[in-house]
Amino acid sequence: MSSPESSVIIVGGGVFGLSTAVWLARGGYKNVTIFDRCDFEKNHYNPSNGCDGASADINKIFRATYGSKSHSQDLALEARDIWLEWNRAIKNTDPSELPDPLTPEDELLTLCGVFHLADGPKLIDLYSENLRVMGETAPSFRDLQFVKNTYSDERRVNSLGPDWVKKYHRFDTFRNGRTNGFLDAGSGITLADKVMQRFFFYLPWANFYQACVYARHLCLKAGVKFILGRPQGEIKSLIIDESGSSKRVTGIQTQDGLSHNADLVIVACGPWSSTLIPDAHRSVEATMGTVMFVDVPSDRQDLRTRFHPDNFPVWRFLEGEGDSINNLDSAYEGGGFPITKEGRIKFGFRARKFTNFQDHPSQESLKISTPRTKYSPDPINTVPLYGLKQMKRVIGGLFPELTEIGFTDSRLCWYTDSIDNEYVKNQLERNPDRFTPLWKWRTVEEGKICNGLEEGETGPRDMSKLKLASPQDFHFRVNSSL
Ligand SMILES: *[C@@H]1O[C@H](CO)[C@@H](O)[C@H](O)[C@H]1NC(C)=O
Repeated sequence: MSSPESSVIIVGGGVFGLSTAVWLARGGYKNVTIFDRCDFEKNHYNPSNGCDGASADINKIFRATYGSKSHSQDLALEARDIWLEWNRAIKNTDPSELPDPLTPEDELLTLCGVFHLADGPKLIDLYSENLRVMGETAPSFRDLQFVKNTYSDERRVNSLGPDWVKKYHRFDTFRNGRTNGFLDAGSGITLADKVMQRFFFYLPWANFYQACVYARHLCLKAGVKFILGRPQGEIKSLIIDESGSSKRVTGIQTQDGLSHNADLVIVACGPWSSTLIPDAHRSVEATMGTVMFVDVPSDRQDLRTRFHPDNFPVWRFLEGEGDSINNLDSAYEGGGFPITKEGRIKFGFRARKFTNFQDHPSQESLKISTPRTKYSPDPINTVPLYGLKQMKRVIGGLFPELTEIGFTDSRLCWYTDSIDNEYVKNQLERNPDRFTPLWKWRTVEEGKICNGLEEGETGPRDMSKLKLASPQDFHFRVNSSL
């Protein structure tokens, strides 16, 4: 069991490692050290600067509705308060006291709404269920959701003003109107009203990685130590004491050959976690989604205005169902964001996720799905052709005005299930709460399905079996190979 006197090592300085550290340090823990192979002090979590964790990303969706999963909804609403507090704190901080590259003008969150869109004329069950649950648990927030192609909702949205009317009609012509869904306008209009605020979606427009820069700044202020960069910050192995009746981790060894002891070692490495803890490979698996970008040139002010968050919501589109790799040719689950200040529009696709099985670095005859990115020893700078083809089909239909520019960059986004928030501290101190059963260590019986994929290295979604896109495939040309 841990207490403020315990020494704590956190392996991984992304959003989970940082949030765990800040809550421990603020809770009185005096000896918390974060290790990471990325030198965040120099690269500021910038994804074009050597960072390939999911935390180092230009933007993320922050949503408050999770259907019947009330624990997720409650976490999101609590986190919302903290995001807003950070926004205010940054605004009120002297520029000289903010960490590079943050300025007081930077908002970590921008509230711009989200459009949940799906194929076909009739509202899909998932969306009806979302609206129903919201109506029951948070009726004032349900009042800010507007079902597409519904006369009464079209009248209601008018009361929010012309920008929201534009957002409500933004997708009307797509597929000759044969789409359904709802606009969630829970953002921006009644910020003064604290009660209403509880149920908003919060959608970061500014670079998400700036949130990590700020969280690291808060960690430093709270006394958290950092050992960053290669080789000193890169973990080589866990130090394990096997002398007692059970195995115990007593520290870590880093690539510079040094050993660091601690009463508690927390591994917060996202999709790299099973690389360090082979025992976890059946309960956390690295899977990859496809991300594409369109960089809108600065002389295209028309497009920069059109996709600005004042005029354009985050969107999501669903078509078809299932995840069977054999019969999923028209299924779609993906979405996109408003443009960033730098002119970058991001699109994601995750109807089909991919894996990359490799030999485990320390455990003999074990193969695990292992992230491979632009910055891996065996770097990759493209995406699976399958995801790209589906994205061109849907995004080309939604935004024909972007097809002449084409995709200008790509990213493989590796992720896995993980934990965060100050409730982590309760688990460390053995104070049971509602999250204890959800976050406990889970063992998996051989042969039991645990994470939904479980196809292993012979499965069809492994990278070794995928066709990868070539640079020409990034264009939307009529005669492209797609
Ligand atoms: C922090 O913990 C480590 C490992 O237990 C110990 O070696 C070190 O002296 C501690 N540092 C402080 C400032 O207490």
